[in-house]
Amino acid sequence: MKNPFIIAVANQKGGEGKTTTSVNLACGLADKGRPTLLVDVDPQANASGIFVKVESLEGSIRDIFCSEKKDKDISGIIFRTKNEFLSVIPSHISLAEMETGGTNVDAPYILRDALQTLDRFDFIVIDCPPSLSIFTITALVAATHVVIPAQAEKFSIDGMKGLQNTINSIKRRINPKLAVAGALVTRLKPKTVLNKTILPVISQFFPVFQTTISEGVAIGESHLAKKSIYEYLSSSKQSQEYLAFIGEVLNELEG
Ligand SMILES: Nc1ncnc2c1ncn2[C@@H]1O[C@H](COP(=O)(O)OP(=O)(O)OP(=O)(O)O)[C@@H](O)[C@H]1O
Ligand SMILES: [Mg+2]
Repeated sequence: MKNPFIIAVANQKGGEGKTTTSVNLACGLADKGRPTLLVDVDPQANASGIFVKVESLEGSIRDIFCSEKKDKDISGIIFRTKNEFLSVIPSHISLAEMETGGTNVDAPYILRDALQTLDRFDFIVIDCPPSLSIFTITALVAATHVVIPAQAEKFSIDGMKGLQNTINSIKRRINPKLAVAGALVTRLKPKTVLNKTILPVISQFFPVFQTTISEGVAIGESHLAKKSIYEYLSSSKQSQEYLAFIGEVLNELEG
């Protein structure tokens, strides 16, 4: 049985580029003909909305966290997309209600156990919510790697420290194989002097990808058009940058 790389895209701070990075990482890998599954564990369901009509679907990630439906086959909540190599497990707004009911000791392991039965994907990309809630924990427990998008202008040292502590605890107690693939600087503005500003700070906590993602309107427009940046505007700077980022990820994971 083939073990997929499972990449959690996490940062408990809001608006750092997690969903943009998850969507374009998953689409870029699928565009290369690599079977990829995008899993949305954020109740906001932003990533899901790019690929499926969330309201009209029969199932969502909620089903695997829901104790009455625990034995449900995960393949029932995997939906195909127009890209033959990309499938999604969508989220649902109702997932938010479950966040407070976390007395179930199995909770951190549910996603890991469910994904372990899948052997037809090369990559599984998990878009996390902006919190260190059970859904981010469950993603980090399931993951082999974590990618940390960090907005160039507004990153937070306390946030980085908190995330590093969480990752280290999960590594120590539950998932020793979890590796930080790297932090990805997003929304970089032309005037920002990276080397003097955020780079020295982030690199205290995590390795940083060489590629950075520039700020640009094409990203917001691609979300509205429900497309990856490559499909929306392949000539955009961000399209080239996300491809370079994927090159770095593949190099790191597959050598
Ligand atoms: N490189 C970029 N250039 C311009 N806008 C961007 C860029 N990356 C992300 N954005 C915009 O920033 C906002 C936040 O991005 P995104 O949704 O990817 O972040 P997030 O970390 O998933 O947010 P949340 O924490 O709410 O889940 C979105 O409106 C998105 O369109
Ligand atoms: Mg998001």
